[in-house]
Amino acid sequence: MDFTGKIVVVTGGANGIGKETAREFSTRHAAVAIVDRDEKAGTATAQALAAAGGNVHFFPTDVGVRAQVEKLIPAIVSKFGGIDILINNAGIQRYGSVLSTPEELWDEVMSANLKSAYLMSRYAVPEIRKRGSGAIVITGSVQSFGAVVNSVAYVVAKHGLLGLTRAMALDHAKDNIRVNLVCPGATDTPLVRNVAAASDNPQGLLDACASIHAFKRMIRPEEVARVIVFLASDLASFVTGDAVMVDGGMMIACGGMGFQESGTGAGKN
Ligand SMILES: NC(=O)c1ccc[n+]([C@@H]2O[C@H](COP(=O)([O-])OP(=O)(O)OC[C@H]3O[C@@H](n4cnc5c(N)ncnc54)[C@H](O)[C@@H]3O)[C@@H](O)[C@H]2O)c1
Repeated sequence: MDFTGKIVVVTGGANGIGKETAREFSTRHAAVAIVDRDEKAGTATAQALAAAGGNVHFFPTDVGVRAQVEKLIPAIVSKFGGIDILINNAGIQRYGSVLSTPEELWDEVMSANLKSAYLMSRYAVPEIRKRGSGAIVITGSVQSFGAVVNSVAYVVAKHGLLGLTRAMALDHAKDNIRVNLVCPGATDTPLVRNVAAASDNPQGLLDACASIHAFKRMIRPEEVARVIVFLASDLASFVTGDAVMVDGGMMIACGGMGFQESGTGAGKN
């Protein structure tokens, strides 16, 4: 996969999955716009990729804020000359049931995870259209299909991204723009590390994150990034409106991993 001449925008590109996605595209000769609200990490990531020979620039932006996105897209076009590929990856994880999620938290989660993808697409699609074809990849989650306890706003936002993916895939097929969702399981990024660090039992939480996959380890962020890159590439030329699991078999395990092995399962056969 070679992206020479292509301009790629990666939101949430300062850290984690987005950072590795920016690296994968840059290594494959794309020009990369890293978009993130974390100015320190965004600057460091862009500098590191540029030092490795990449054509990479950091654009500090809160992608949940329309006024900022509205200014961002012309700034990217002015810097690089257009947009071919948009990776809507920015997101945050917050916890609570409907009873323990105040309105402000609900809005915060929707803004960072869902509204951001709508806003970025709204302003980037006209630019991608000008190029004649392109691709959008959105980072959903296994929680785009399943739910976990005490995560209502996140689950709803990630389910919403599945709808956004499907709706945009239909609306923009005529523009030769493909839209797909990538759905990771527990990935070893600052998002998960920070949640673990704030818990009563950090190592226990990390072990639990590993145990939910058939491979009994967390996903490495570059393993998600490479699927994103594939979906954005011409190798995936007839793939649109789809959701690709990168979950190490998590979602196929009915009743949990190791249920039968442990010998505790009723009705073994
Ligand atoms: N790590 C996991 O286990 C996991 C699993 C499934 C899905 N995801 C999703 O993958 C995506 C990336 O997550 P990650 O694990 O790399 O997290 P991360 O925290 O390591 O990186 C996310 C980046 O998004 C940025 N960001 C968040 N809100 C923003 C906003 N409003 N404007 C601009 N930048 C913003 C953050 O500053 C950060 O740099 C998220 O959408 C997340 O929900 C992560």
